[in-house]
Amino acid sequence: MKHETTVDTLQKMFKLRAIDRDQQSIEKVVKVPIRVYTEPDVLEKELATAFRDYPLVAGHSSQVKEPGSYMLSAWDRIPYVVVRDREGVLRGFLNVCRHRGARLVSGKETELKAFTCPFHGWVYGLDGALKGVTKPYNFPEIDCDKHGLVELTVAEHLGLIWVHPTPGAKIDLPAFLGEQIGSEIEAFKMSEMVVHRRSVSTLNANWKLVLKTYLERYHVPVLHKNTIAPVFEKGVISHHEEGLQIRIAAAKTNLEEALKADPATWKILDFASVFYTLFPNTFLINHANLLSLNSFYPVAPDKTIWTHDMLYRAADYAGEEGQDALTKRFANIDAVFHHEDFGIVEGVQAGLRSGANEYHTMGLEEGLLAIFQNNIDRVAGTA
Ligand code: FES
Ligand SMILES: [Fe+2]
Repeated sequence: MKHETTVDTLQKMFKLRAIDRDQQSIEKVVKVPIRVYTEPDVLEKELATAFRDYPLVAGHSSQVKEPGSYMLSAWDRIPYVVVRDREGVLRGFLNVCRHRGARLVSGKETELKAFTCPFHGWVYGLDGALKGVTKPYNFPEIDCDKHGLVELTVAEHLGLIWVHPTPGAKIDLPAFLGEQIGSEIEAFKMSEMVVHRRSVSTLNANWKLVLKTYLERYHVPVLHKNTIAPVFEKGVISHHEEGLQIRIAAAKTNLEEALKADPATWKILDFASVFYTLFPNTFLINHANLLSLNSFYPVAPDKTIWTHDMLYRAADYAGEEGQDALTKRFANIDAVFHHEDFGIVEGVQAGLRSGANEYHTMGLEEGLLAIFQNNIDRVAGTA
């Protein structure tokens, strides 16, 4: 984060504290109809737009560094495989055989030399070209050029791998992320990090309900009173929007110390945690010496796949002791998300059809939820 942005962000937090408010965004109470969390037609519109027209974060670049290394989608709706080919070129394909559609890569392979279909044995090169058809006399007129794997555009940017879900689409990440948010994320130097581990879970709640738990701090002193609440200064946050992306800085309880220090020495991560909503479905959290990369994939209006990759710098967690500390931190952070935030929204989802509420009321400190919902509504035409 640029120093002037740090100063501006912390000063906004001091002002909020002075008026005894936790956050400010849109200064009105907003009602969000619960149908956006329950109705299949809303989800279909989101899938056809927000999840088709923008690049999605696939994972961390360290996972596809070596030739033959690959990563798979956790989501059957866009079942991509991203592979580094023998020439070092990163490629993405739908992990679907062009004969009768079998899944080509299961995830058990240590590395890929080619794609060999487990159903009838068709073979594709890592460039996606159909190289061999078993018993080719079965297909006397097959045009191999028309039966290559369906290619998806992939990009490596800021230490992350991005996949565009629509074949043939272009990816322009600097424009998509915006200049300021792009440069802030670049400063994390994620390309120098590695993945500690990924957890994959299925949550019984709408993907937006899950993601929105990150967008307000109103709940922190209550829901997280026994875990992370003591780390944060009430719930004071400052945010910045750039296009469809949102950055949030949440003050830590030592915010007061910044007041005593020279602003020229302020560093944002000393006094705040920084989060980013990367449209549409990724939430990146900088915990200072750890990063949580969360993505949420809708399976049904009330079902979401959640992937959580934890990234770290090897030097920060060296040796057995370091790795033990890392394992504990991952377990603690993952448990807070899973059992506190997402546990509560699974209960929210369960009650949506009870008739108790026709809409959810977002208070003044929950305005970012409305901003995020507006972005989705605008893109998906669901307003
Ligand atoms: S489905 Fe792949 S070879 Fe038949
Ligand atoms: Fe929370």
